[in-house]
Amino acid sequence: MFEKSAKFYDAIYHFKDYNAAAGKLDATIRRFSPNAASLLDTACGTGKHIQLLMNRYECEGLDMNKDLLEIASERCPGVRFICADMTDFDAGRRYDVVTCLFSSIAYVRTRENLFKAVRTMSEHLDAGGLLIIEPWFSKDTFWTDRVTANHYDTRDLKITWMYTGKIEHGFSVLEIHYLTGTPHGVTHFTEKHVLGLFSDAEYRQAFEEAGLEVYYDKDGLFGRGMYIGVKN
Ligand SMILES: C[S@@+](CC[C@H](N)C(=O)[O-])C[C@H]1O[C@@H](n2cnc3c(N)ncnc32)[C@H](O)[C@@H]1O
Repeated sequence: MFEKSAKFYDAIYHFKDYNAAAGKLDATIRRFSPNAASLLDTACGTGKHIQLLMNRYECEGLDMNKDLLEIASERCPGVRFICADMTDFDAGRRYDVVTCLFSSIAYVRTRENLFKAVRTMSEHLDAGGLLIIEPWFSKDTFWTDRVTANHYDTRDLKITWMYTGKIEHGFSVLEIHYLTGTPHGVTHFTEKHVLGLFSDAEYRQAFEEAGLEVYYDKDGLFGRGMYIGVKN
């Protein structure tokens, strides 16, 4: 889903305040588990959360996109990154905290995969450990009535990306158009992002079935809410 846009990922999401997100994430971890020391960020993308947390926690990252992981490895020297699917992985160890941020969980698409991913993440937690997931929209809150456009503008790289949202077969579908420009030329490409639309009840049930006591923060790190599961 980020096959063509991976190399532009950081420019595309330049507006996202990772500093504020990492600060709030750290405060949340401290509140629920003051002694937490190790953290696995699943669907870590280019590793921006890890970069900001790696001096406070022993961090590792996981993602299924090799190009994004290459950027993450350069950004976070010495950190182990695992190329794997978050619905089914074995990191070979457990952590105090597992995260899945910026709505990445919805890329698993189906309810069955949601439950599988949450179970797999929970299996990687020590007793008392935390699973922290920022959800995507639900069927009731997903926008299908507007167009979204974002712009990145520097001297040598300019990007405009734009999409409308549709619901197809119960999934949210973003057909994203990217226009990228460098001094060497201007290119247009599209990417189709398909994300599952899970309800609050489904997230809670997935956490409970994975042996996690669930808490909810309605603001989360990026205004989309946040589920915090504490392993029994
Ligand atoms: C919106 S990006 C978020 C990246 C990062 N968490 C951030 O906040 O910048 C979604 C990420 O989910 C990853 N992803 C999607 N499906 C995945 C899966 N099944 N297993 C692992 N990573 C996945 C993508 O490769 C991408 O890096």
